[in-house]
Amino acid sequence: MTAQPTSSTSLPDPSRVARIGVVTVSDRASRGEYEDRGGPAILDYLREVVSSAWEPVARVIPDDQSGIEETLIELCDHEQCCLVVTTGGTGPAVRDVTPEATESVSEKLMPGFGELMRQVSLQKVPTAILSRQTAGIRGGALIVNLPGQPKAIRECLDAVFPAIPYCIDLIGGPFLTTHEPRLVAFRPKK
Ligand code: MTE
Repeated sequence: MTAQPTSSTSLPDPSRVARIGVVTVSDRASRGEYEDRGGPAILDYLREVVSSAWEPVARVIPDDQSGIEETLIELCDHEQCCLVVTTGGTGPAVRDVTPEATESVSEKLMPGFGELMRQVSLQKVPTAILSRQTAGIRGGALIVNLPGQPKAIRECLDAVFPAIPYCIDLIGGPFLTTHEPRLVAFRPKK
């Protein structure tokens, strides 16, 4: 599938409440074989850090590339999310295809996100290099992959979140603010 946003991905209204997609990619969580802990960890993080108005759009889906692509497209194009955070499916196993789905639906790749998250994660676990997590832009949305480990979520988001509000400014999204000093969003001076 190639990245082809529909006409509904015209630049969003900056005054609207930010919609943030949270996607847990896990065969077992989607079948109810274990509790989804990644999605709730992302929601907890966003509640702790984002101070401007936002609302979540959450999904729990299997590790299936076309299904992940469909969900990302739905959240970016139809649910009008300005940010979509995924958790899981970034490793080397056969069913780990979240980065492929992300790249497939993105018009632009944002490799700096994966580079930085792996760098900070490597200070915590040697297996950080096993994550192929990446990020990309589709229309008015930034898609960011996180590993499936719930504790990885905070470590990775603390590293990249300071750059996320400005990235969303640049793609025409709502003006996100953060709870300072917990996390300071960096916007270059004009
Ligand atoms: N990054 C952080 N910060 N903490 C972790 O525990 N686990 C690693 C890596 N990145 C980890 C991490 C491991 S063990 C794997 S296999 C890869 O993420 C991929 O995980 P995923 O397939 O659940 O996305």
